Amino acid sequence: MRLNKTLAWLLTLMAISPLTYAQVAQDNGAALIAQGEKVAIASDCQACHTAPGSKTAFSGGYAIASPMGAIYATNITPSAQGIGQYSEQQFAKAVREGVRADGAHLYPAMPYTSYHLMTDQDVHALYAYFMHSVKPVDQANTPTQLTFPFNLRFSMGMWNAVLGRTDSFKVDPSKSDEWNRGNYLVNGLAHCDTCHTPRNFMMAEKQDQPLAGAPLGSWYAPNITADPISGIGGWREDELVSYLKTGRAVGKNQAAGGMAEAVEHSLQYLPDSDLKAIAVYLKHTTPIRTEGEAAPAYSYGHPVSVEQEIRGNAANNAYNALDNGAKLFSGNCASCHQPDGAGSPNQAYPSLFHNTATGMIHPDNLVSAILFGVRRTTKDHDVLMPAFSSPTYVDQLSDQQIADISNYVLHNYGNPQVTVQAGDVAWMRKGGRLPFLAAAQPYVVPGIAVGIVVVILLIIGIRLRRSRQKHKS
Ligand code: HEC
Ligand code: HEC
Ligand code: HEC
Repeated sequence: MRLNKTLAWLLTLMAISPLTYAQVAQDNGAALIAQGEKVAIASDCQACHTAPGSKTAFSGGYAIASPMGAIYATNITPSAQGIGQYSEQQFAKAVREGVRADGAHLYPAMPYTSYHLMTDQDVHALYAYFMHSVKPVDQANTPTQLTFPFNLRFSMGMWNAVLGRTDSFKVDPSKSDEWNRGNYLVNGLAHCDTCHTPRNFMMAEKQDQPLAGAPLGSWYAPNITADPISGIGGWREDELVSYLKTGRAVGKNQAAGGMAEAVEHSLQYLPDSDLKAIAVYLKHTTPIRTEGEAAPAYSYGHPVSVEQEIRGNAANNAYNALDNGAKLFSGNCASCHQPDGAGSPNQAYPSLFHNTATGMIHPDNLVSAILFGVRRTTKDHDVLMPAFSSPTYVDQLSDQQIADISNYVLHNYGNPQVTVQAGDVAWMRKGGRLPFLAAAQPYVVPGIAVGIVVVILLIIGIRLRRSRQKHKS
């Protein structure tokens, strides 16, 4: 009897253990980890969680500029100071719901608002990758200190409850596999929506205007819906793929700012099938037209040169000698973009006409390219346009000079209906105009103080009335 029991127990052990072992092997297996790495690349976790210039991947410390102040991305390596203690469930909750292991809410600078679409399989693989393949780094987090009331993390819980998205990813059987894959990448992993979808005054994405274009600090993330005038309806699929893979689509645009980062850290590494799926999805989005736009941004402009008239006037801008847009353009831009704005023959220095940066009704990307330059490293090429704000090795340009160059460029090569004022440049130099919530912040404390005073006055008023009524009666 006893022997039988032991035998049975032994048999069970033998039967179970190889199975569980196999399960663990499969779970932590190379294939799963490789899958997790692909998810991490498509989701661009590196871009935020590795500080620029840092030698330790995912160790955090990168300050993400938000209108409310800097939000520091944290250490997500599997160390004690990182996410070493996170269970898979806690990890999934942080990535998809923006809730930390200790229960505190994350700011949506961490794009959980898009990652909430991530499938269980992908979260599982991602967890295996972080726990078993990422090198643990002991580096303490830089605390994020936003001003009141944004420092109250619990308020993000309320924000999520009212404005957050909690639906999980659903395959649309009426659409192709390619379209579904594209939808998953655009709105989930690659979180294109976080930059390209406009936000309401509470800073939540406007659900009725997906991908319709939005200001992004000093830059503008254009409308990428299928609309042929306001969006990418007129881009060929292969142009979109080339743009995502290299940051260049000749005759359309070059990726700078946040888009350059997305290409550099993430999109260039995606398999062509994924890039094609994104292009297919974008070409089938609901077109959204911006009122007042009559022609696609890339259709504006033609070669114009005033070099003959101004040559020799002033070779460079020493002592701010150049006093109008044409001369400033000749002195600062024509060497690369050519005196007629057509760019270099191979378009490594791009044409300034037939370029959405100069044809859009939002001049932000033209002005920001001048202020901050263009920098992008991919497998194919290193791209560098110098920044004309400090610190730089070219002449620094004032707000007025940048406005003058922009207006010269817009008038000749871009959208002539658009003009730039020195004041616009000043805002972009500072990181862009503040959205309502951030602009209202300075009034929150006085607002609450005024509120308290009003309440006190009301109470005194009611008391006085009551006591008068008492005296009357
Ligand atoms: C656009 C920037 C951005 C991207 C992309 C991003 N994160 Fe984050 N993440 C952040 C920021 C910022 C925080 C800290 C937010 C805060 O303190 O409220 C954070 C916090 C976290 C945390 C919480 C860790 C802790 O305990 O503090 C985890 C886990 C995490 N991210 C994982 C990921 C993973 C995995 C990916 C890729 C799938 C990713 N993040 C992509 C910005 C980003
Ligand atoms: C971090 C913010 C950010 C993310 C994420 C992002 N973009 Fe962009 N995107 C931009 C900005 C800013 C521009 C303007 C670039 C320029 O003109 O230099 C841009 C430009 C573009 C353009 C060119 C449009 C035009 O009219 O010139 C396309 C197409 C595009 N993005 C597609 C995507 C797709 C698809 C994704 C996701 C896979 C994505 N973007 C993710 C910020 C972003
Ligand atoms: C040293 C060469 C050089 C100079 C000088 C230069 N650029 Fe550029 N410019 C570039 C390169 C390189 C790119 C990006 C090409 C790419 O991304 O493939 C670029 C891109 C641009 C873009 C597109 C930006 C976008 O977001 O799509 C604009 C607009 C532009 N330049 C305008 C100017 C103006 C105006 C000046 C003068 C103030 C100027 N450039 C000076 C090399 C230069």
